[in-house]
Amino acid sequence: MSGFDPGWLFLREPADRLARSEDLAREAGSWLAAQGSALEVLDIGCGTGSTLRSLAPVFPQAARWILLDNDPALLEQARQLAGETVHVSFARHDLNDIAGLPLEGVSLLTASALFDLCSEGFCAQLVKRAASEGCAVYAALNYDGVMRWSVAHPLDQAVRAAFNRHQQTDKGFGTALGPDAASRLAVLLEAEGYRVRLAESPWVMGPGEADLQRSFLKGFRQPLMEIGELPETGIDDWLSFRLKAVHMPESRCEVGHLDLLALPA
Ligand SMILES: C[S@@+](CC[C@H](N)C(=O)[O-])C[C@H]1O[C@@H](n2cnc3c(N)ncnc32)[C@H](O)[C@@H]1O
Repeated sequence: MSGFDPGWLFLREPADRLARSEDLAREAGSWLAAQGSALEVLDIGCGTGSTLRSLAPVFPQAARWILLDNDPALLEQARQLAGETVHVSFARHDLNDIAGLPLEGVSLLTASALFDLCSEGFCAQLVKRAASEGCAVYAALNYDGVMRWSVAHPLDQAVRAAFNRHQQTDKGFGTALGPDAASRLAVLLEAEGYRVRLAESPWVMGPGEADLQRSFLKGFRQPLMEIGELPETGIDDWLSFRLKAVHMPESRCEVGHLDLLALPA
């Protein structure tokens, strides 16, 4: 098990879909359609298959997807949800084995909400492998460190800084890039000759997204305690204020992400 709760992945999926840059998704689909018969897409860290569900409507129908994850329970959910509407197969694989990734013949490598968990070294090796196979890269929803609340609390800035530092601890791939993921990935891809575009894809959550906001906020306590920069009472006061503020009509929470599309030159 990877520890990624399918309930959390389903809860965030509508916000992710709304946030994704339509422009980059469509450009990825047009580029893929222009590749003739080579329409293989490999989605890494697929979870329950959110990337497939979001992109399939703007991708050529002939696209053949491989959904890859190391969590068998998430892969099973992805399998059940995929039905028979698209060409899709599934692979259980640990991404740390980059040489063993089934990238031969793949035109487009996709990932969502993944690269902020990954290290510079992992990204560098993956980019080299993608470049050697000549495949394009679409990487959506990379957290970029921005968190804003319209209803302010005095600890907001300190919480954001501590949370962002925790984002750069090891998440299974070495020291994580966290908020720097999309910009570092862009530099690594450009160095391999890719044409790279970045687009903002923030979540903007109001009272209508109360369940997502509550679940998101409840995920703060453990990292804030682990990083140890704020007293426990401060963390709990901040959390209880934030959980109440979710229901205020004027309350908004913005969480920044960046989508990236890199096309081989
Ligand atoms: C934040 S979730 C994103 C899931 C999905 N892409 C989405 O947008 O809903 C990260 C995913 O990466 C997978 N993952 C984490 N470490 C992995 C590893 N070493 N090998 C393969 N998959 C991994 C997790 O199982 C999880 O499905």
